[in-house]
Amino acid sequence: MMNDYPEFMRMVELVSSLNPLQRKRINHFISRQDQEYWEYAEDICRTLGRSFLKTNAGRVTAASAYNRMTLDFLAEQIRFKKTGVYLLNDAKVARANVYDQPEVMRYYMVGLFLSYLLWPNHFKMLQFFKTYIQGSPTVERYLEIAPGHGLFAAETLRRFPGLRATLLDISKTSIQVTSEILATFQIDSSRFDFIHGDFLTVPMEGGDFDFISMGEVLEHVNDALGFLERACRLLKDDGRIFMTTCTNSPALDHIYHFHNTNEIRDLIHQAGLRILREKALPAEAVPEERCEAELITINYCAILAKRA
Ligand SMILES: C[S@@+](CC[C@H](N)C(=O)[O-])C[C@H]1O[C@@H](n2cnc3c(N)ncnc32)[C@H](O)[C@@H]1O
Repeated sequence: MMNDYPEFMRMVELVSSLNPLQRKRINHFISRQDQEYWEYAEDICRTLGRSFLKTNAGRVTAASAYNRMTLDFLAEQIRFKKTGVYLLNDAKVARANVYDQPEVMRYYMVGLFLSYLLWPNHFKMLQFFKTYIQGSPTVERYLEIAPGHGLFAAETLRRFPGLRATLLDISKTSIQVTSEILATFQIDSSRFDFIHGDFLTVPMEGGDFDFISMGEVLEHVNDALGFLERACRLLKDDGRIFMTTCTNSPALDHIYHFHNTNEIRDLIHQAGLRILREKALPAEAVPEERCEAELITINYCAILAKRA
């Protein structure tokens, strides 16, 4: 089976040879996936073969980016298990240390892109998103807050050919990586605009987006409620929001610490939103109740609508 997916396997082999710790984890995951997974992973790696994975040097850079990002996460996990608190509590410091550092942000975003093929929970959240957009009626005005690397933006723009997208990120490097990914996916640049800025403060006209996506960003800000409230104000009355976040998930730039999934649900309701669909994915095979006490991450994704 693996021989039928050469581009994906070449990338997996390179990641594993540069970081033997990853070999077992990745093989454990990919060997249990169905044909649809393999075809998708191969399709993405072939697409990246037009740019990021075109040359051997490019493939080594991408695999190293993924490995650096996983080592950053691992180091933070070890620190967090001892202290129980996130490294930072001020989003301004995350901006200075991470978002405004092109070298750090590039390996972080390229690595994160690849994690959607290699981390079980990231792949499940991407599947949740793809299933939702496949079953959705046409979307015309799309806002993505914090596209980071651009994979979700690329999937949405591929799914809805008539769509116009606004892509907003606080990091210039995230905008650069996203524009490179969209070019790689051969998406016409007339279909999207970028806004560079902090979503909490950047001036924006509102009320007419019919789909807003905000993956893995609430945990990066101090005012997570203000963030969701603003997204709610920018949404059409019958619009939908896709969001993901996480509990007990330390990283170099995570600020807002959700201790359990009910804290996430409470915030959603306080912001004037309701949950239409959700998925909570513990990072280890333990019941959700144990995750809070044992500081185990739960990845969370949901589709939201305005409360009547
Ligand atoms: C972990 S990445 C998420 C990328 C992608 N959405 C995903 O789900 O994988 C976090 C992104 O949030 C952006 N970000 C952090 N704080 C932000 C803010 N206040 N306004 C806009 N973007 C922000 C960062 O620059 C980065 O691109």
